Amino acid sequence: MYDQAQRLRQMFSTGRIDNRPKPSIRVMAVTSGKGGVGKSNFSLNFALALTSMGKKVVVLDADVGFANIDVLIGKSPGRTLADLILRRVSIWDILELGPLGIHYIAGGSGLQDLLSLKQDQVDYLVDELEELQGFADYLIIDTGAGLTEGTLRFILSADDIITVCTPEPTAITDAYALIKLVVKHNPAAHIQLVVNRVTSAAEGKQVADKLVLVTNQFLHVQLQTLGYVFDDPKVSKAVKEQVPFYLQYPDSAASRSIDQLAKKHLNLNVGINHGDSGIRSFLSRMTHVFRN
Ligand SMILES: Nc1ncnc2c1ncn2[C@@H]1O[C@H](COP(=O)(O)OP(=O)(O)OP(=O)(O)O)[C@@H](O)[C@H]1O
Ligand SMILES: [Mg+2]
Repeated sequence: MYDQAQRLRQMFSTGRIDNRPKPSIRVMAVTSGKGGVGKSNFSLNFALALTSMGKKVVVLDADVGFANIDVLIGKSPGRTLADLILRRVSIWDILELGPLGIHYIAGGSGLQDLLSLKQDQVDYLVDELEELQGFADYLIIDTGAGLTEGTLRFILSADDIITVCTPEPTAITDAYALIKLVVKHNPAAHIQLVVNRVTSAAEGKQVADKLVLVTNQFLHVQLQTLGYVFDDPKVSKAVKEQVPFYLQYPDSAASRSIDQLAKKHLNLNVGINHGDSGIRSFLSRMTHVFRN
């Protein structure tokens, strides 16, 4: 947790004291149709890979009820976004420091009430989240299982939507259903696919090609394949050890896959689907998505 002195150091180190324009933060929502396909593990380890490649990353655990990121890194739950909204603590009070210098925010039950916030609460939330602008390059949102209205809001408001699926037929059909819903609300959505738990590169390619084809044919959307992650017993082992697999088993097949995905993501000249990025536009989209 941050004290006042830390906050001041932060302000100096991020140039918040002067009036230089702050670079935009890229907001990525990690989502899936079917639950349990590996979103939280992907979000955390992908964040670590981006960090090791020089990016500054904040992970927002938007999984209401289950503090996944806390558990995956073996920390006890701290303050959440609910504390920020309801008790007016600052963003620096709820921002937790994780391994390798990543930061994370626990969503907590506050996210559930996102739709019923009063205007002054929304204003406060926007102001506080905007502090992250210039502090980080990426805000990676790990969305929870199941498509609640709140989750859909996060997904539709993000600059990039990463859809995770596995080679199981149910995960593929659920991914298709999710993409269909996203495209219905935003035909220009920028969606990237990650096939998790593949047993071979050929299997990963086959699943991705299939989804790219059907979504193109029936939904007229150009899905981008980010890549695949190998099914690897080290993932489950690391989960039990409460250390991210990317750190605990850096030479494992899963970690190497994550490295490749992060490199590909950084190399891709990915367009931004809203024409504008950054926290304020993200939040403004969040508050408008369901009004029209
Ligand atoms: N690449 C992988 N190889 C092997 N096992 C994996 C892999 N990815 C995920 N798993 C297994 O799947 C479990 C669920 O992963 P995770 O919690 O990341 O899924 P999730 O999509 O976030 O779930 P939820 O929908 O409940 O939030 C992990 O605990 C791990 O055992
Ligand atoms: Mg999860």
